[in-house]
Amino acid sequence: MAAALVRLSTRVSQSAEPPISDLMHRALAQPHLISLAAGFVDQHSLPVAETARAVAELAAEPDLARAALQYGTTLGHGPLREYVLDDVLAADRQPRAASGLTTDRIVLTAGSNQMLHLVTECLCDPGDVVLCAAPTYFVYLGLLDGLGLCGVGVATDRDGIIPEAVQEELLRRKAAGQAHRVKAIYVVSYYDNPSSATLSLARRGRLVDLVRRWSRDNGQQVFILEDAAYRELRYAGDDLPSLRAFDEAGDTVVYAGTFSKSFSPGLRVGWGMLPPALIEPVCHFKGHIDFGSAHFNQAVMARVIESGLFRPHVEKLRAIYREKLAAMLRACERHFGGVPGVRWHAPSGGLYVWLTLDPSLDAGPRGKLFDRAVAAGMLYVPGEFSYASEGVLPQPNTIRLSFGVQTPARIEAGIAALAQAIRETHSQTP
Ligand SMILES: Cc1ncc(COP(=O)(O)O)c(C=O)c1O
Repeated sequence: MAAALVRLSTRVSQSAEPPISDLMHRALAQPHLISLAAGFVDQHSLPVAETARAVAELAAEPDLARAALQYGTTLGHGPLREYVLDDVLAADRQPRAASGLTTDRIVLTAGSNQMLHLVTECLCDPGDVVLCAAPTYFVYLGLLDGLGLCGVGVATDRDGIIPEAVQEELLRRKAAGQAHRVKAIYVVSYYDNPSSATLSLARRGRLVDLVRRWSRDNGQQVFILEDAAYRELRYAGDDLPSLRAFDEAGDTVVYAGTFSKSFSPGLRVGWGMLPPALIEPVCHFKGHIDFGSAHFNQAVMARVIESGLFRPHVEKLRAIYREKLAAMLRACERHFGGVPGVRWHAPSGGLYVWLTLDPSLDAGPRGKLFDRAVAAGMLYVPGEFSYASEGVLPQPNTIRLSFGVQTPARIEAGIAALAQAIRETHSQTP
């Protein structure tokens, strides 16, 4: 008997396999490849001892341990929400009492991706528009596609998304009678994935001002979805105040943060600091999905912080990644020096170096360069994955390199292999 037809939902049918999955399969199938593709964190510095100590401390207090092993609330573990609020305000140099902010504004989630998803789904109907940098985080672009939303890439440079280009896009939408469809602007404000650009101080205030004015003049709130996933991974320079810190009325910016990069992605503890108008919708929606993310993980994370294990770990990570970044930049100097058209900038944080090649080269997954790089022994992420389906066109001559996973020696070998592949491709390009 023939199997009955499986009729999937429209939403699931429009969720194609993420393009990065194929790359990951290739990396796993060929373990000798040096992958500068995966955006994973350094395996060896994952905090085994710190996590073991926090769990042991919790277990030594059975009432607390039992509470942590029970369901929590949809908002999440109270002590961790306290810490998150204090920490974000301290980083933004805002005294808590004067800020008027309380932990009611903090919702803990399963990683910050869940917060990005919840907020986007709370705000948007199919066909609605989210503006974002070009390039931007491809997982978020996949999320937009999966929800039937329209991601629009806006011009971006070394200082991040350009506020005037955001304004132009808003005006274009308005002229087309589509102003009401623009619901959010997604901004990775520190050491963006993939470009490593940090939104400059001057642009932060300008962007928040223009979005607040726009929302007021058009009678509908546009939200800035600030993704601060890499804020803690800073290797040079000073921390900048978040976009949220410029949102004095607190009605425009959603701030999404995570312990994935600064402690452990396996614990999957992230959070959002939300404008009051979004707390209830997000909590109701989350209530229907999971009525609270893993409570035990949140309690472990809170204990890590209370026991003074978090900050020293972040410092240790900074030292490790600073060295890996330096190794990647040295290798770029050494191997790309004589290759025409290759450009990159030295980032001051994050996990990525963004390469732009000569415009005649196609670094896409179906181009010759990609296959040559694999044959030479390395894997990268084609930059074209990081462009939204509308707005700024994908740049096929771009590459995202990640320095988080490999050792300095393997980073050097991976870049040497890529340089060889680029040279070979150049010599065979008419
Ligand atoms: C820009 C950006 N945002 C969010 C995330 C999600 O992190 P998590 O869901 O683990 O908090 C990542 C992970 O790589 C990222 O690169």
